[in-house]
Amino acid sequence: MLYTRLTRDYGLDVPFVSAGMGLIALPELAASVSEAGGLGLLAAAVTPPSALREMIHKMRSLTSRPFGVDLVVTDTAFGQSTTVEHIRTCIEQRVPVVVFFWNLPPADWMRQLRESGIKVWIQVGSVSRAIEAARIGADAIIVQGSEAGGHNHSETGLITLIPAAVDAVSPIPVIGAGGIADGRGVAAALAAGADAVCVGTRLIASHEARAHQEYKNRVLAAGVDDIGRTCIFGPEWPDQPMRVIRNRVVREWVGKDGKTPPAPNPPQVIGHTSIGAQNYAMPKFSAVLPTLHTSGDFEEMCLAAGDSAGLVRDIKPAGEIVREMMSEARDVLEVRLSAMLTPMRQTTERPPRSIEPRRSRGL
Ligand SMILES: Cc1cc2nc3c(=O)[nH]c(=O)nc-3n(C[C@H](O)[C@H](O)[C@H](O)COP(=O)(O)O)c2cc1C
Repeated sequence: MLYTRLTRDYGLDVPFVSAGMGLIALPELAASVSEAGGLGLLAAAVTPPSALREMIHKMRSLTSRPFGVDLVVTDTAFGQSTTVEHIRTCIEQRVPVVVFFWNLPPADWMRQLRESGIKVWIQVGSVSRAIEAARIGADAIIVQGSEAGGHNHSETGLITLIPAAVDAVSPIPVIGAGGIADGRGVAAALAAGADAVCVGTRLIASHEARAHQEYKNRVLAAGVDDIGRTCIFGPEWPDQPMRVIRNRVVREWVGKDGKTPPAPNPPQVIGHTSIGAQNYAMPKFSAVLPTLHTSGDFEEMCLAAGDSAGLVRDIKPAGEIVREMMSEARDVLEVRLSAMLTPMRQTTERPPRSIEPRRSRGL
């Protein structure tokens, strides 16, 4: 257990929120996180309202613990990703928490959700956006640092963004997202003033994530230096900055990556997948992430992941990841940091195992 205002107010055992990751964070993943005492987020991404309703039912069949629904506010090639119907579905299903990402939600949605007793969180990438989110009534603000995987607008690292946002929006709780994949990162975010952490990349490498096995393997194999930011992906949602694994297509376009390049002529298909029940031929530069239903050339695909992929060492059940990160954070707070409050004596003792540096893969 670790206690913060967020765990108290939302009935959680640990200040851990799993990121809504489009096509990847579905009920199995979110429920495992909620069952482990955190708050699991269901990613609605481009899911139509009827399918979102089914996802919520499935979630409730897997856990009776608190959870949330993550909604992206933007237009895509598949239409508006969040509509008033999605909002109605969340209200009708009495979802405990709704999280908005990318653009701020209209005031009307905020009002309807809050009048229905639903807590609304907003994920932002800057202090000025955090202030706007606070002004429109967010109950908590997730600050996304520039390290974070997936779509990412932030220009600021999380260790600066958290305290700056806390100072700007206090007393609204702030949740830190980006670069956190072990207990050391959790402890750092909490020490910087966050009331919880929001974790994406670490959970791609979980049994329950719907990512393709090859995608999981590549997250595992990536070092911190293998991750970069690019705008090349997205005929479905053009010119959006994303943090991804640098595979061949990213390396080829480095330096020319300020915008999504024009579609090649003749059109080129890099793979096939399914979105909902629909088959989808993935065009060159597709931003659609490879899932269990995807086949094709992984050197051409968008493999969204943050810098913390470099800290991921194994694929395991999501609940185990939550428990491990939280127990390591406790060790860091209890042992490593509290030891700094007393003068050091000459010793040959080794630090407790769980907070020893891990050997990097290169050595
Ligand atoms: C594969 C992937 C997909 C993502 N999709 C979404 C999404 O659909 N909605 C959203 O709010 N955030 C999305 N994000 C961003 C996360 O909410 C969060 O900011 C990020 O994962 C935190 O950084 P980390 O990946 O370093 O843990 C995604 C992140 C990743 C890695």
